[in-house]
Amino acid sequence: MTTLHLSDGAIKDEVLVVGLSFKTSSKKGGGALVIESGDIALDKKKLLATLSDLGATGKSDEVIKIPGTATKLLVFTGLGENKTIFSDETLRRAAGAAARALAGNSSATFSLPAKKAATIAAIAEGALLGAYSFNKFRVDSMVNRQASLKSVTIHSALAKKAEAKEVIKSAAIIGEYTCLVRDLINTPPSHLTPDSFCKEIAALVKKVGGTAIGLKVTVINDAQLKSKGYGGITAVGQGSANPPRLLQISYTPVKAKAKKSYAYVGKGITFDTGGLALKPAAGMEAMKSDMSGAAAVCAATIAIALLKIPVAIDCYAPLAENMVSDNATRPSDIITMYGGKTIEVLNPDAEGRLVLGDALVKAQENKNLDGIIDVATLTGAQVVALGTRTSAIMTNNQEFSDHFFAITKSTGEAFWPMPLPVELRASLDSPVADMANIGERMGGMLVAGLFLKEFVATELPWLHLDIAGPAYNEGEPYGYTPVGGTGVALRSLVALAQAAVV
Ligand code: BES
Ligand code: MN
Ligand code: ZN
Repeated sequence: MTTLHLSDGAIKDEVLVVGLSFKTSSKKGGGALVIESGDIALDKKKLLATLSDLGATGKSDEVIKIPGTATKLLVFTGLGENKTIFSDETLRRAAGAAARALAGNSSATFSLPAKKAATIAAIAEGALLGAYSFNKFRVDSMVNRQASLKSVTIHSALAKKAEAKEVIKSAAIIGEYTCLVRDLINTPPSHLTPDSFCKEIAALVKKVGGTAIGLKVTVINDAQLKSKGYGGITAVGQGSANPPRLLQISYTPVKAKAKKSYAYVGKGITFDTGGLALKPAAGMEAMKSDMSGAAAVCAATIAIALLKIPVAIDCYAPLAENMVSDNATRPSDIITMYGGKTIEVLNPDAEGRLVLGDALVKAQENKNLDGIIDVATLTGAQVVALGTRTSAIMTNNQEFSDHFFAITKSTGEAFWPMPLPVELRASLDSPVADMANIGERMGGMLVAGLFLKEFVATELPWLHLDIAGPAYNEGEPYGYTPVGGTGVALRSLVALAQAAVV
């Protein structure tokens, strides 16, 4: 993991990273480049001439390296169009793109325009997330790989302020736990099963302090799931040699009264073949990411505990591997969910809603909840509707949704509110059971949301976050987002807890 530092003094690192933006002028000849180097003075005139010779544009995701004078390298990272104040997300992405391009170097100082602590945090997060790489399974191919940037220093005039030191500490935790989410997503089902997921989380919770920091892990195994009536998790997991689990992490603040109490529930399908509704071979490998919601809620809960946020979290990860076998759930099978509702499984590939239904009901046994949030790579329809970079928010409570949506804007994670139209609900009616697990195809993301809504008490504020597209990047890396697991939702889940305090 990359280490993080804060400084307002002389630069000691190998590399200096500054920003480059452009001004669109009305004059003929187009835009002029503007160097944004924060509190560090540079000979800008000479540098601008060099940058112009190099054809620099200052567009986002452009990273230009030149030999430095005070440092080995001077790096310009694109900030896009010049602004009096750049958004935190612009700086987070620019820092990420630079950190990604600096693999092979050991240390870099980032001097970008930051006038407040939140911006310092964004730059720090971007640098840590951009420096991420996943090499756990490389052996021979490791030889020619450049190692990730080892040390990041954020240069700021605010460096001596307590507020700046505080946000650097929290950015380090947020960076580390986002990388945990990515690692879990990138780990294939050969190395991540429902059981090993639980063991990894339990070991990590123990390592970071366990009950001493308010964390407690409980695992319900397959036999217990069956005997206690968790029909959804059991039905999805029964076709696999790797049996299902229900992982719970509870966080109770130590020596502080909880200001709010939330349940976080994450879809944990360690691999989704589609079951007997087998998915096509092309692209199926991406379904190792179908546990992204579970990874996000677990990592967020541990991060919240490490940040000592006085909010109680009940985190649930229903974990199963959706496989094909002589014991797999068949289309037409009727199952009884935790809490008693019967479901006709018309499509075993609509499995996420089955494991989540059980976990949502279980989570509501805690009668002190102020809200419940589920996070899931739930539908291909989400990707069709919003693309690969914007996640959906659905809700039974407009106020809670507005609150969360506002928070996501400060974290830089792209979400968008989506409706749950009542008229689609009838499509989930079954001729033989309480409900079917699929309904109308059009608006499939919303139909899945309406299915989950049936498992939540009307008076409990609930958010359903469908992260199917944004959880896993199958395209090119950009900003602080690598190829593979992205870690989306972690920052917003942590920020939601943080918002309960201020
Ligand atoms: N895990 C998938 C959804 C998904 C698709 C996530 C693409 C990420 C990228 C989910 O379990 C699924 O298969 N959903 C079906 C539901 C359908 C059968 C109603 C889908 O979206 O096709
Ligand atoms: Mn599926
Ligand atoms: Zn799935």
